[in-house]
Amino acid sequence: MPSLGFLKKKRTKDSSGSAKDFESPTSPTITKEPSQLSQPRSNPDALSNPATSTTASASAVTSDTNNSTAAQQNTAEPMNTAATPQQQPQTYSSPEASQQQNQPSIQNVINPPNNDSGYRATPARDGDAMQISPPPQVQARVTKGKYSLVDFQIQRTLGTGSFGRVHLVQSKHNQRFYAVKVLKKAQVVKMKQVEHTNDERRMLGRVKHPFLITLWGTFQDSKNLYMVMDFVEGGELFSLLRKSQRFPNPVAKFYAAEVTLALDYLHSMDIIYRDLKPENLLLDRHGHLKITDFGFAKEVPDITWTLCGTPDYLAPEVVASKGYNKSVDWWSLGILIFEMLCGFTPFWDGGSPMKIYENILKGRVKYPPYIHHDALDLLQKLITHDLTQRLGNLHGGSKDVMNHPWFAEVTWERLMKKDIDAPYVPPVRAGVGDASQFDKYPEETEAYGQTGDDPHERLFGDF
Ligand SMILES: Nc1ncnc2c1ncn2[C@@H]1O[C@H](COP(=O)(O)OP(=O)(O)OP(=O)(O)O)[C@@H](O)[C@H]1O
Ligand SMILES: [Mg+2]
Repeated sequence: MPSLGFLKKKRTKDSSGSAKDFESPTSPTITKEPSQLSQPRSNPDALSNPATSTTASASAVTSDTNNSTAAQQNTAEPMNTAATPQQQPQTYSSPEASQQQNQPSIQNVINPPNNDSGYRATPARDGDAMQISPPPQVQARVTKGKYSLVDFQIQRTLGTGSFGRVHLVQSKHNQRFYAVKVLKKAQVVKMKQVEHTNDERRMLGRVKHPFLITLWGTFQDSKNLYMVMDFVEGGELFSLLRKSQRFPNPVAKFYAAEVTLALDYLHSMDIIYRDLKPENLLLDRHGHLKITDFGFAKEVPDITWTLCGTPDYLAPEVVASKGYNKSVDWWSLGILIFEMLCGFTPFWDGGSPMKIYENILKGRVKYPPYIHHDALDLLQKLITHDLTQRLGNLHGGSKDVMNHPWFAEVTWERLMKKDIDAPYVPPVRAGVGDASQFDKYPEETEAYGQTGDDPHERLFGDF
């Protein structure tokens, strides 16, 4: 059994999925003692009531998304000296246009196979192997000294986590909106997260991918560390999932496919993500995913031992304190797909993390009968203890996951270009700092920007 020191906070928000829960969400608080950090959060009501209807199955039609805008957004260069939030090209569409685009809706079936939507049977190639464009090569970015607190007007809290709080902010220079993650240095040190926090910055500085958050820069004052990211307006996939209870098969497949491309990219750079869960998956204004929270991401070419993650999503080799490799992310992908399809995680057990760990080590998963047989097959191949059997960890690597029959109709090249309509377009007014899709949290009371003694300055030299 693991000690609890490096595990993330309990998944605080209730999972019963009723609309009421989302009108008055539980406000997560930073737990003081590491020993209280890891409570589970799920509640497997849906298993006993598999027929519960879902928001995600409501048959509404999603209007077309503006993919050219999304493509333009990816052209700006983050975290380098040549492009700053102030200089970022204007890419937001007008509020009127975005209101038309962003009707609240979820398509029941994303796009039937063989239509022109791009979500279609993958053309057979030599040996049936999947080919996608190689990930873009990026240079390490240098940002030191780029921003400071006075560049931004801090607005409401968008989210809180075990180690940080994320604010919506507005740039005083270009009036655009960003998300700034604020970490208290003393807390980071107390929780022994110095290395992880420096890794978070370094890993985010290395990556550039359509489904990963963009870090524009970092700075610090005597008390806090600050990371300036894109503001991803559509809220957490977690909130959408809890409102929907569970996703229809094609909806879960769409999100899982975008995550798969992101993991494929991270692993190609020898980066393990280690904290896959719906709270860390944000929806952009068009409904595509952005993975945020690189707090446990780390460059690991081979094997590592650090115990970290979120209880429900931990692979058994992590729970058992064995050495582990990238394949823990494929296990977590299995847990994520299961949670999206069922509305609860497979090893959840009455609220006790210890019970979850026992269940993970036992490895018995009860699959509800409504899971599609292809999804079931994939889940069994991801949520397996046997590392010689776990998909993603075999000879074909992530291509084995992408070539699995559950993903048969995914056109990966088009998905990568966001050329496939998302199943749900968040009802946000784009570009105006609309945080309506995020839960409300009590605000921070301690003033930012304090000067004075900083006993931890040397620990965070990169910020
Ligand atoms: N770029 C962003 N745009 C909008 N919201 C964001 C962004 N990044 C993070 N958030 C929100 O803030 C929350 C907390 O951020 P993050 O996950 O990075 O913190 P954490 O302390 O590492 O979290 P945890 O311990 O819960 O995993 C996220 O779940 C999300 O709701
Ligand atoms: Mg998080």
